[in-house]
Amino acid sequence: MKYAKLTLCSEYEVGRIDDRVYGSFIEHLGRAVYGGIYEPGHPAADENGFRTDVNALIKELGVGLVRYPGGNFVSGYNWEDGIGPVAERPRRLELAWGTTEPNTFGTDEFMRWCRVTGTEPMMAVNLGTRGPDGSRNLVEYCNHPGGTYWSDLRRKNGAEKPHGVKLWCLGNEMDGPWQMCHKDAVDYGKVANEAAKLMKWTDPSIETVLCGSSSYGMKTFGEWETTALDIAYDNVDYVSMHQYHGNSDDYLENFLAKGVETEQFIKSVVSALDYVQGKRHAKKRIDISFDEWNVWYHSHGAEFEKWCEAPHILEDIYNFADALVVGEMLNAILRHADRVKVACLAQLVNVIAPIMTENGGKAWKQTIYYPFYYASKYGRGRSLQGLFEGSKYDTRWYTDVPHVDTSAVLSEDGETLTIFAVNRDLKDDITLQTKLIAFEGFAPVEHIALENADPEAINTKDHEAVAPVKKACPKTDNGQLDIPLSPMSWNMVRLQKIKN
Ligand code: AHR
Repeated sequence: MKYAKLTLCSEYEVGRIDDRVYGSFIEHLGRAVYGGIYEPGHPAADENGFRTDVNALIKELGVGLVRYPGGNFVSGYNWEDGIGPVAERPRRLELAWGTTEPNTFGTDEFMRWCRVTGTEPMMAVNLGTRGPDGSRNLVEYCNHPGGTYWSDLRRKNGAEKPHGVKLWCLGNEMDGPWQMCHKDAVDYGKVANEAAKLMKWTDPSIETVLCGSSSYGMKTFGEWETTALDIAYDNVDYVSMHQYHGNSDDYLENFLAKGVETEQFIKSVVSALDYVQGKRHAKKRIDISFDEWNVWYHSHGAEFEKWCEAPHILEDIYNFADALVVGEMLNAILRHADRVKVACLAQLVNVIAPIMTENGGKAWKQTIYYPFYYASKYGRGRSLQGLFEGSKYDTRWYTDVPHVDTSAVLSEDGETLTIFAVNRDLKDDITLQTKLIAFEGFAPVEHIALENADPEAINTKDHEAVAPVKKACPKTDNGQLDIPLSPMSWNMVRLQKIKN
């Protein structure tokens, strides 16, 4: 018998949800920048060359923070190539992805784009081919008011006021052999520590993110986190997590269980961070920046012409099942709101992204757009500590997978309760039997769902096969709320305090 029971009390919370968990990522990769957010000559481009049709979707999606410029790209990037008069900027071989980088879009364009889209920049520095010197110069260029070489160069380049970038990634995936100048944990810890130290001396108000393992599956996972963090502890604020779920074995029950691995990964990283804090008897706590997460497998193995500009790479066309896994990952992030303070759906446009474009043509929403949209719209405030009990199943890779996956959020004003739920079961409706404690006067106002009999249904520029539907609003009876969840579905139920 499949079942799911959730108890929620308005006073039992995990913690405040940091608005920065609704971040995303733009890398100089494929058509993320060129043909994605930036396409001079496109009918919808503004005077900066920014696509206003794409910007409108980004604003609607509620993305508040955008990581830039990589990713693997950053480990070979000379940021100085991307500033100053565009005509004088060098074209470079880009070794991370085997393309040519024209550098017509760089730091100042990105900062302008952030202002236009109302997003906060999260910058990454090159700790691959470069190091602490280039990193502290970039902080000076971005954040120092003026009167020095780099800050005056920024002013000369048209940005009178500092860009004020608060959040800085110390390299990217430095444990990965695919990374330019990858390092072992000790070498990385040392260079990251020195870079962070000089960057913070340049601007003490910034926060830094140390690279964690590039995935949960790395052989060095755990050891890498504790070693590098122990060396750099005093100069860092967050450790990164990256996770992309694949679906190589075409086994749907297994794929839909992937959120369980996100949960395990977060818990393991929290343990590693707390171990180092304990070992050092440190007062400061280190939290998580989950700065790359998504589903990624459709585009694996796609070929393109080497050294071309802005090729169609990593252009995953997401299906309905992918949207459910994205919903589960969001649930896991919300359930750990006390420790996951930053998170970036990777990426934002065209490259493994919720938004797709055609060059010179339309922009549209992929299936994964919707769970993110609703979480970012209604998943703000306080994450509630739900007590969950339900039936489970086993797959090839996972055991004890709950049929239903949930998270719950109480808005900051305490007047709206939002419950997110994924029914992983392929065949059966399951009722989420929710017991509400200390929610007097709350009444359900809407039930939105993503449902589709075809796990492979996709959205295209002309047809949206996967779109939210409005369900009949469930009723509360004496603190009991029964939410019917269709098989293979993502759901959001909102309750509001009714004013007398
Ligand atoms: O997001 C695509 C790539 O995935 C990034 O460049 C890298 O950091 C990760 O391996």
